[in-house]
Amino acid sequence: MAILVTGAAGFIGSYVCKALLERGEEVIGVDNLNDYYPVALKQARLGLLEPHTNFTFHQVDIADVAALKQSVSGRKVTRVVHLAAQAGVRYSLENPMAYAQSNLVGHLAVLELCRHTEGFEHLVYASSSSVYGNANQAPFAEEAEVDRPVSLYAATKRSGELISYSYASLYGLPQTGLRFFTVYGPWGRPDMAYWSFTDAIIQGRPIKVFNNGDMRRDFSYIDDIVAGIMASLDTPPVAGADGLPNRVFNIGNSRPEELMHFISVIEDAVGRKAELELLPMQAGDVYETSADTHLIEETCGFSSHTPIEVGIPKFVDWFRSYNHES
Ligand SMILES: NC(=O)c1ccc[n+]([C@@H]2O[C@H](COP(=O)([O-])OP(=O)(O)OC[C@H]3O[C@@H](n4cnc5c(N)ncnc54)[C@H](O)[C@@H]3O)[C@@H](O)[C@H]2O)c1
Repeated sequence: MAILVTGAAGFIGSYVCKALLERGEEVIGVDNLNDYYPVALKQARLGLLEPHTNFTFHQVDIADVAALKQSVSGRKVTRVVHLAAQAGVRYSLENPMAYAQSNLVGHLAVLELCRHTEGFEHLVYASSSSVYGNANQAPFAEEAEVDRPVSLYAATKRSGELISYSYASLYGLPQTGLRFFTVYGPWGRPDMAYWSFTDAIIQGRPIKVFNNGDMRRDFSYIDDIVAGIMASLDTPPVAGADGLPNRVFNIGNSRPEELMHFISVIEDAVGRKAELELLPMQAGDVYETSADTHLIEETCGFSSHTPIEVGIPKFVDWFRSYNHES
């Protein structure tokens, strides 16, 4: 029995594939290898997976229902980890249609695949802390009101949760949505602040600090998050109070950091002071993200224990070796 991972060449997806392969699972990975950020990085992540003989990869757009179905043809796939998406808050201002295609049509295509699979067991899919917007009191708990998105990205992620709910209601499809809170680590994403800050500080370029640095973020280290995804996958939902096998969990570090402290940890790891370009708040950004993770801890035994003082130096070491910096 194989497990399908969408977004397999992505940051989190490549780690999930690796963790599944290392415990002996058969994994089918799909990804369209789009050029939102350098494809070479996606290829390099896939390169780490290719030595595993129980890994198969298909370059497929998940919004293409027929191609997605073809990628699992002849295989029994009763569990899916769905991570493919157009990510990023800021890019949704420039390229809105990419979000509709991957995050709405693509999400629905994955649900269709699952619902037509006999004996389907569990779909774990990625949502985002961005669904909490700016209207909620931190730390954010799952029952908070999440219908006031401040970016299109957040709106598509919340829509994914709602579409999933309808499939749980209509077809009893067992699902877990995970609201990720700023995940970072080696093999991470070039569009995220931890990457661009590290790059600029190493090169001696100024870094853009929005809202004059007055922001707080719940930074989650990749290894903790992957352990949480695996634990969620292994603990399918039972019918809740509404009778549906459908749930949404926060998955984060529950230790929000001041942005300026985060920058100082990168400075220490790089061994150089940052030159700051202080800017106003960007459209679509949120002031604070902070995860209440009680639900996933109690249900799946999740724990996040890596502080940024440990995780950031690991990222910076990897970044230097990946870019041949010394
Ligand atoms: N990394 C974070 O901090 C974070 C935070 C919140 C939510 N998320 C969500 O977690 C998931 C994984 O994020 P990530 O950081 O690994 O991002 P990523 O961009 O590195 O990975 C996503 C992968 O999906 C692929 N993809 C995009 N659209 C596709 C399509 N239509 N068909 C097939 N493949 C497609 C991309 O090529 C990419 O490799 C995403 O759903 C993202 O929205 C991530």
